[in-house]
Amino acid sequence: MTTAHVVATHYVDLTGSAPEGIWFAPGRVNLIGEHTDYNDGFVLPFALEQRALVAAGSRSDDLIVMRAIDLDETVRMPISDLAPGRGGWSAYPAGVLWALREAGHRIGPITLVLSSNVPLGAGLSSSAAIECAVMAAACDLFELDISPIERAKLSQRAENEYVGAPTGLLDQAASTLCQRETGLFLDCRTLEATLVPLPLSSKGFEILVLDTHTPHSHVDGEYGERRATCEEAARLLQLPALRDIDDLEAALAKLPDERMRRRVRHVVTENERARLAFTLALQGHLEELPGLLDASHASMRDDYEITVPTVDLAVTAAKTAGALGARMTGGGFGGCIIAWCRSGDGSSIGEAVERAFAEAGFTAPAWFVAHPSEGAGRLI
Ligand code: GLA
Repeated sequence: MTTAHVVATHYVDLTGSAPEGIWFAPGRVNLIGEHTDYNDGFVLPFALEQRALVAAGSRSDDLIVMRAIDLDETVRMPISDLAPGRGGWSAYPAGVLWALREAGHRIGPITLVLSSNVPLGAGLSSSAAIECAVMAAACDLFELDISPIERAKLSQRAENEYVGAPTGLLDQAASTLCQRETGLFLDCRTLEATLVPLPLSSKGFEILVLDTHTPHSHVDGEYGERRATCEEAARLLQLPALRDIDDLEAALAKLPDERMRRRVRHVVTENERARLAFTLALQGHLEELPGLLDASHASMRDDYEITVPTVDLAVTAAKTAGALGARMTGGGFGGCIIAWCRSGDGSSIGEAVERAFAEAGFTAPAWFVAHPSEGAGRLI
């Protein structure tokens, strides 16, 4: 049975009737531009084949009914109870409905039956995939005319205000706006979004995604602490955001402590790398990108201090085994790395990292070769 059949079947079991449709939204990896989104900077993600599916239909009572097939849990709530403060997985779908209503859109009672094959807690935006799939379903079911970027922003609002994770726009924008065989270059201030071709296989490359199985969370303190430090630095520099730094050395000289200077240096240099990667990709020079991935990882490790031993070992072992470039992807403190490989090398590089993990006594990693895929939409 395909996953679409599974969500449809569960929907019928739950409601006694067929869903009005099935919608999807993917997870993502960020190629480059990490911890830049909430600094009004630049990101360059692509969407994964792994995606969340939701079978949905409107209801005639006053309930929101949400079922997570993978967890075998069903949550029912009166639509009038939609309010931040709810924990657990149902905060993601409920948060999207809440954000839509907060923005003045008419939403009604709805059944949402969810399943996802985006690995959880791996930094691959499993939560954004759920949010953006529910957003796509709600917009169609309630005939809401909302642009893709606005859908992404409302999904981000769900994550920030309903779930309580102070994240930027990267994940929801990627899950909503990406297309097959492309990356998405997003200016997180102007919201100008440009699709950039990533013809990996025809250029002789593949990108390995390796999950270190070191779980992470954005609701806990480290992510928020980095964000707060950036905002404090911008305030001290009397700039709207770190994006506005023109002269890095002059800015660093004005900041009070070494840790803050390192954080700022990461953001400024990462923005430069993201812009350069975008330009090079547009010019078709994909072979120049792996070097930028290496520099990004060093910056996250040494300046932003968001890597952990498993992640650093994965990057080093992948490089030793022949990866052309490698970096942690996502919010950090665990999760996944991406390794830019020559076509056909991904599996042997994954196996080499697995051996290195075994020698270090770390839990075995999981890996797959990523294929830049399409953003949220209707499946059936
Ligand atoms: C997480 C957040 C994003 C972004 C990245 C770091 O994935 O959800 O908004 O800040 O971390 O680049």
